Amino acid sequence: MITDVIRRDAQGVVDNLGRLLDPLAGSTVLVTGAAGFIGGFFLDLLDAFNDRHPGRPARVVAMDNFMVGPPERLSHLLSRPWVTCRAGDVSRPLVPPLQPDWIIHAASIGSPSIYRANPLEVIAANVQGTWNMLDLCHQGARGMLSFSSSEVYGDPSVVPTPEDYNGNVSFTGPRACYDESKRLGETLCATYFRLHRTPVKVIRPFNVYGPGQRLDDGRIIPDLVRAALAGGPLVLYSDGRATRSFCYVSDFAEACLMLLMMPEADGHAFNVGNAEEVSIADAGHAMAEASGDPSMKVEFRVSSEAAYLVDNPQRRCPDLTKLHRLTGFEARVKVREGLGRTLSSYREERDLGSLRKAAQG
Ligand SMILES: NC(=O)c1ccc[n+]([C@@H]2O[C@H](COP(=O)([O-])OP(=O)(O)OC[C@H]3O[C@@H](n4cnc5c(N)ncnc54)[C@H](O)[C@@H]3O)[C@@H](O)[C@H]2O)c1
Repeated sequence: MITDVIRRDAQGVVDNLGRLLDPLAGSTVLVTGAAGFIGGFFLDLLDAFNDRHPGRPARVVAMDNFMVGPPERLSHLLSRPWVTCRAGDVSRPLVPPLQPDWIIHAASIGSPSIYRANPLEVIAANVQGTWNMLDLCHQGARGMLSFSSSEVYGDPSVVPTPEDYNGNVSFTGPRACYDESKRLGETLCATYFRLHRTPVKVIRPFNVYGPGQRLDDGRIIPDLVRAALAGGPLVLYSDGRATRSFCYVSDFAEACLMLLMMPEADGHAFNVGNAEEVSIADAGHAMAEASGDPSMKVEFRVSSEAAYLVDNPQRRCPDLTKLHRLTGFEARVKVREGLGRTLSSYREERDLGSLRKAAQG
């Protein structure tokens, strides 16, 4: 399912990056986690790229085990001759084998509520899945993005947090399955680069949000969107004082594609996000404004999930100096604007859904 908001966002990124993306033309791109939030947006970006390059489109292999992302996220792309969809698990050997030029490895479980319920599956995707992708990259790919997480820093004592901060992470708590396997995934990337010069770049996303996220995945922005669509109240399962730096998905993807195209980024890890640090409570109030009903109530409650706040970092804000120095990148979309775009996209999806239902009679 795609909306006009997503289509415009994807076209915007392709237009902003212009000739930098030329190496994608005629190449093969493997996207893992393709039905997920971020992987799905990359698919739409590649679709927008191919619209601009009809003579030499990129061939795209979209891979997902559909454990989290639904197949419907890709339904609008299945008729494209340049897309192959593979239902498969990245932690298993790739059969039949594949020789991609570029790998965008986004398969994992992004939602804390879902990975806490599936701890071994997330470890397998983050460790064995990353290892398999590195092996594939080592066989001749031109570049690979491996998605790690800002969670590798745990609850940091240095904020804004630079890439060389080593983290303050529980290795046995309920979030450790995710945090520690992301850390080991990074160790694998650094090791492949050290041993083989494998052209992998590690991305540490900081709270990416936008259209295309599953509204029931338990992350804060989808929770707020769902509540806003229902007319409120906007319920926060904390006291709202912790901070996050929310990065709109088109800004995020633009920075990632710049890095993918830059050999200077090989073997490095980069924070990718927005430097605008806001409290969770402020995000709630911004959503109320974005909804068009600023009087919508923001409520603070206790989650029924016992581990909801265990090892939850208090502050989360990236130091983006390294990224900026190499790419010149700065996020464009402010939180209030991004929430507005997100909400419009879900409203569009809801309207399309009800139109479809009406058409089916
Ligand atoms: N969205 C964020 O704010 C954020 C923040 C930090 C890190 N990340 C990382 O970015 C990447 C993408 O995040 P997202 O928000 O799109 O997550 P997501 O959960 O929405 O999507 C991940 C996709 O991977 C698929 N998947 C899971 N295990 C798989 C496996 N073994 N084989 C094949 N597919 C599998 C899921 O079905 C899902 O469609 C992940 O690595 C995530 O950890 C995201």
